[in-house]
Amino acid sequence: MSTDIKNVAVIGAGTMGAGIAQVAAQSGYQVVLFDLEKGKAAEAKATIAARLGKSVAKGKISQEQKETLLEAMFCSETLADVAEADLVIEAIVENLEIKQSLFRQLEDLCKPSVILATNTSSISVTSIASALARPERCIGLHFFNPAPLMKLVEVVRGIASATDIVETGKSWVESCGKHAVITRSLPGFIVNRVARPFYAEGLRALECGVAEVQDIDTIMTQAGQFNMGPFELMDLIGHDVNYAVTKSVFDAYYQDKRFLPSLVQKELVEAGFLGRKSGRGFYDYSADATKPEVNIAPSCSVNVDWTLSLSGDWSQAPTFAKWVGLPITNTQSTQPCLEVNGVRVMPTQCETASQLSYQLEQPVVLVDYCQDYGSSDVIAIAPAIQNTEEQTKAVIGYFQAKGKRVIVLDDYPGLIAWRTWMMLINEALDLVNQKGASLADVDVAMKSGVNYPFGPIEQGQSLGWSRVLQSIENLQAFYCEERYRPSPLLRRFALQSQRGEK
Ligand code: NAI
Repeated sequence: MSTDIKNVAVIGAGTMGAGIAQVAAQSGYQVVLFDLEKGKAAEAKATIAARLGKSVAKGKISQEQKETLLEAMFCSETLADVAEADLVIEAIVENLEIKQSLFRQLEDLCKPSVILATNTSSISVTSIASALARPERCIGLHFFNPAPLMKLVEVVRGIASATDIVETGKSWVESCGKHAVITRSLPGFIVNRVARPFYAEGLRALECGVAEVQDIDTIMTQAGQFNMGPFELMDLIGHDVNYAVTKSVFDAYYQDKRFLPSLVQKELVEAGFLGRKSGRGFYDYSADATKPEVNIAPSCSVNVDWTLSLSGDWSQAPTFAKWVGLPITNTQSTQPCLEVNGVRVMPTQCETASQLSYQLEQPVVLVDYCQDYGSSDVIAIAPAIQNTEEQTKAVIGYFQAKGKRVIVLDDYPGLIAWRTWMMLINEALDLVNQKGASLADVDVAMKSGVNYPFGPIEQGQSLGWSRVLQSIENLQAFYCEERYRPSPLLRRFALQSQRGEK
């Protein structure tokens, strides 16, 4: 239990409010749950009771725990019932004026020591607090859906929020067994901002015809070790919700091109293809639908012995060198290269295979990033347009002989997994650069808020800041778009690492 807080009030008994009330009650707090709509709070409590009944049946909690929790939750139809609360968490409709009006009423009703928190995901906490006589007592407590299950809560500091109030909010969240991360009231906070490239880069690859939805999802899950690919995840979240978040972050950052929404997603929303909930999104969820097949390259058995050599610095992809299992020669040369029958196979750094082939005067096949080349059952590659069919087939055949399913992409800078990671790392650093969150909190947020296999900061550190910078610069040179501009903090980290300081 948090020492300063005993009584909690939750305003709004919808999806989030009901979940937050459950979290507070099961953590030992007395909870008042209020909703403007008559009977809504009681309805939410009945739903919670039914859910807890299932947990009792499964032996996850005892009958006594269930009863204690429900006894701690009081459903109210009168706002004045929240007067004794030490902490009020608002989870009502996402509208600034309505939230401000509620907060003004709460300030009049509650004791002066109350902490007023909003669960908003897209409205500025600073704006909500500006309606108050004591804006220093207002913070954001941004839970994720479903609140009882999701571990992360973003504790949002508005410009006027007092430091001790932010710290008390954080301790309260931790007393509920959640991971609390502190963020400034910037659009998208941590998760909804840093995650944008995960969707945006998938959508862009699709729009450019580099691969199909199921191919991109497979690369991100098998090679990238993400729980879900961008398209399955967008279908699960709902395109109306995901598109609205992208648009709100884009507008809030004065139409910064880095957050540009996708026309493909807009069209899905216009069609009413909202994802799982409407039965159709990128995938078809109707009963008789079959899952689309991943575009795996057909077998390319090559009837010659491969001439193989591995050279260069493979610290970008040590698991590749290990998986190939050849001795590395010529480690002085910085460019990592596996030569298969005279074709240079190289990990991508966001140049194109055709560009490299032209420079090196040799056929080139680029390989996408795999978190672990040994265990991934797929490998994505992009051949240079100059390669003959036989040259590319030799590389495909070699990977197939080593047990991989090969996905052949168009010659696209950065391919899929590598490019997405580069942009996630750059975005995370840019947020830190704006003092939006600490390096450590960004990693916690992305791992526990959206279940990323690694935090973007630890991933950047392990892949090497200079390589990340080089990759983003290559994208920028290729597209001449400000979307691919390196964060100043990435530049600083790359410089420090070159000087051996990081
Ligand atoms: P919801 O529509 O399920 O529930 C909102 C509830 O608030 C309704 O029961 C409504 O009757 C009640 N309400 C509306 N105006 C009220 C007022 N003035 N006083 C008292 N009750 C009022 O909405 P949901 O999804 O629970 O979202 C609530 C808040 O949480 C929003 O600010 C949303 O942005 C935020 N949020 C939502 C997430 C989600 O995945 N649904 C995730 C994280 C934050």
